[in-house]
Amino acid sequence: MAQLWGGRFTKETDRLVYQFNASISFDRRFWEQDIRGSIAHVTMLAKQGILTDEEKEQIIEGLQGIRRDVENGTLPITEEYEDIHSFVEANLIDRIGDAGKKLHTGRSRNDQVALDMKLYTRDEILELDALLKGILQSLLKLMKEHTETFMPGFTHLQKAQPITLAHHLGAYFEMFKRDRSRMKDIYKRMNYCPLGSGALAGTTYPLDREYTAKLLDFDGPTLNSMDSVADRDYLIELLSAMSTVMMHLSRFSEEVIIWNSNEYQFVEIDDAYSTGSSIMPQKKNPDIAELVRGKTGRVYGALMSMLTTMKGIPLAYNKDMQEDKELVFDAIDTTKGCLALFTGMLDTLRFRPKRMEDSAKHGFTNATDAADYLVNHGVPFRDAHGIVGRLVLYCIEKNIALDDMSLEEFRAISPVFEEDIYDAISMKTCVEMRNTIGAPGQKAMQKVIEMEEAYLLTE
Ligand code: ARG
Repeated sequence: MAQLWGGRFTKETDRLVYQFNASISFDRRFWEQDIRGSIAHVTMLAKQGILTDEEKEQIIEGLQGIRRDVENGTLPITEEYEDIHSFVEANLIDRIGDAGKKLHTGRSRNDQVALDMKLYTRDEILELDALLKGILQSLLKLMKEHTETFMPGFTHLQKAQPITLAHHLGAYFEMFKRDRSRMKDIYKRMNYCPLGSGALAGTTYPLDREYTAKLLDFDGPTLNSMDSVADRDYLIELLSAMSTVMMHLSRFSEEVIIWNSNEYQFVEIDDAYSTGSSIMPQKKNPDIAELVRGKTGRVYGALMSMLTTMKGIPLAYNKDMQEDKELVFDAIDTTKGCLALFTGMLDTLRFRPKRMEDSAKHGFTNATDAADYLVNHGVPFRDAHGIVGRLVLYCIEKNIALDDMSLEEFRAISPVFEEDIYDAISMKTCVEMRNTIGAPGQKAMQKVIEMEEAYLLTE
């Protein structure tokens, strides 16, 4: 058992207590960030004359040696240490002797862990952002291909009005675009360096906190040392943003599952992203979409846990806060994994435009347009509504779509109908007429696609 605080204690810590307290099994994950932070810290200590240049060189060389050996697997991070900070420091002292004992000058594990977690999260936010950008690129490609793929748009999961696949996918584009902007906001707000806050009240050494902040690419030092070691807001914000990403992925998964069902057959999920049944040979299940939907709960759970952990903690650091790590790590892994897999599934999804268009026709999604046709020919809207109601009833009885009726059949219900009714209620016309920005009409859609393309080039 290797720990940093033996001096004041007389009895060896009970093994169970030790294990309960230890964090190495999970904080080993940010070993690289711990070393990076320590290098910046000693660089600053030497600049301030707190360490000699020689001591600095020795320590940095030692830390780089540890980095190399962990990387190439010759130095395993074992559980004989209490936490990653003890592991690095003990190994440093083993390697370079007394100079290693000066690494922790003017620092506490409280500001050290606050820094490590920030460095780790900051790196992960960039990865999450890259994955979100990836799904946006896949979506935009599909949107360009499907501006004339007609399908029913739904409200209450009932067919409502015709749209295009580009328009439907475009809705998800907006969601993931907002998710990216949330990531960017969090990064910006969290990007202040807690190092130099000490245990809670700063230190008596003449540290240059601006300098360490700069060395580690922060926008500056944090401005209150108590808040610095006790702040986990950025983790709560990240968990919240990831919960929203998962909620979006889950809704999208639900649609893919519905579209892939025997009844809809709007899409076919690639074999690589579906699984068979052990008993029913005919089945091909959308397991990946279901798992993404299912894993959403884990990320929500992490957000609730973190909020609950933080709610009763008096200033400043308390050990409860060690609970931040496992939750956040799991939520990040889950969200990143789901984004990558969902994008792969989307890229290989086969769409069935004919099924989609037929479905739109047979759901009377063009009924509003038939009524508009009558209105344009002088029929008052209330009468037009009634006439189209009768058309729909007639079609339901005969099990046909409005477009399948002959002109005689149309005229039997209202003599106002002429040959041009077919054009007026074609899916193409119904969609084309909707050209205000944000609507599915081709011109409007084209404009939006160009804007999104420009956005992806610059951000
Ligand atoms: N493992 C601890 C954590 O994750 C590191 C900080 C320990 N500080 C302390 N005062 N015991 O929070």
